[in-house]
Amino acid sequence: TVTPVILCGGSGTRLWPLSRAGFPKQFLVLSGTNSLFQQAISRINSIACTDILLADTLVVTNEEHRFLALEQLREMKSIKATLLLEPVGRNTAPALTFAALHAMANGSDPILAVIPADQTITDDGAYIKALQQCVRIAAEGAIAILGITPDRPETGFGYINFEGELGRNGEYTVTQFTEKPDLKTAQQFLESGDYTWNSGIFVLKASTWLAAIKHFRPDIETATQQAWLGKSEDFAFIRPGKAAFEQIPSASIDYAVMEKCPGSEVAIHMVPLSAGWNDLGAWSAVWMVGEQDANGNVVHGDVLHSDTSNSLIYSSKRLVSAVGVNNLVIVETADAVLVADRAQSQQVKKIVDALEKQN
Ligand code: GDD
Ligand code: MG
Repeated sequence: TVTPVILCGGSGTRLWPLSRAGFPKQFLVLSGTNSLFQQAISRINSIACTDILLADTLVVTNEEHRFLALEQLREMKSIKATLLLEPVGRNTAPALTFAALHAMANGSDPILAVIPADQTITDDGAYIKALQQCVRIAAEGAIAILGITPDRPETGFGYINFEGELGRNGEYTVTQFTEKPDLKTAQQFLESGDYTWNSGIFVLKASTWLAAIKHFRPDIETATQQAWLGKSEDFAFIRPGKAAFEQIPSASIDYAVMEKCPGSEVAIHMVPLSAGWNDLGAWSAVWMVGEQDANGNVVHGDVLHSDTSNSLIYSSKRLVSAVGVNNLVIVETADAVLVADRAQSQQVKKIVDALEKQN
């Protein structure tokens, strides 16, 4: 059996003003009719039509978002999930360690499918096929990670250098993992053709993760074990010891483990995924995956425009109109409006940082 682990405790600041501390982007409906969180869960659940059995889903999120997550899970009816609640965000390495400890608590060692909750994929069939291959790799004790062919020098992703073809078709040895390189390095990676992006989706045994985190970051492993000892259970919620969890150092899976695997005793294999994958990290990505009209505009809600092209215009309450503008992002909410150059929508983080300083 495979246990899906949905990581959904991030803050999604670059999608301000729609994504807020109290309602982060993974719970927003940004494409289609379901939230990104719901899309991630139903996508992995479609693996049930193969020979792979799925165990109950583990949702790792922040205490503050438990009812948001629960409500969205209820809307999906058939999904059975346990919610692991973090009192504070310590990034993804402690989140996955928490999930692995829970998964192994009854003495079993399930294969975990680790899935970020801020992505869109258009070809579910190709995704499931690639995941099936990952499950086979994970069963043998290695980490299997889905790689995406890059089409731009994106600095917000991890890059996987690979070589050769392992025994099975389309499965590569990871020789180097570089998390969020600078632009110059990203450009070199793109030109060399030997790199994929890290999709952030990977499959491994719970014990493989615990051994890896213990090997590379024993401080995180020990501190998370400590928090796990103080856990409490209430209904579908599992909470670690609060004070102990707060002591855990903050680190992402990528910096804490993935970058350190190549050349170590922890084997990591890449399986290419070609399925219209996207991380909805910034407004430019929401524009990219949206339904564009003949002039390249993506609109949502009550919007009127004229002589406008290649823009994203999002209205949540009021009528939003635009005349004679190009390449803009305009997002209206009840208490804030954003107007940005689409090419610079990553910089929205600066506004959020400034707001945090004011508060
Ligand atoms: N439970 C929990 N706790 N989840 C978290 C936390 C946390 O403290 N922090 C982030 N997450 C969740 C986010 O909600 C998201 O679904 C996922 O973990 C990944 O976090 P991001 O913050 O979105 O990471 P990223 O996009 O900058 O980078 C990662 O994903 C890229 C692909 O989307 C890295 O893995 C990159 O290497 C990768 O290319
Ligand atoms: Mg992300």
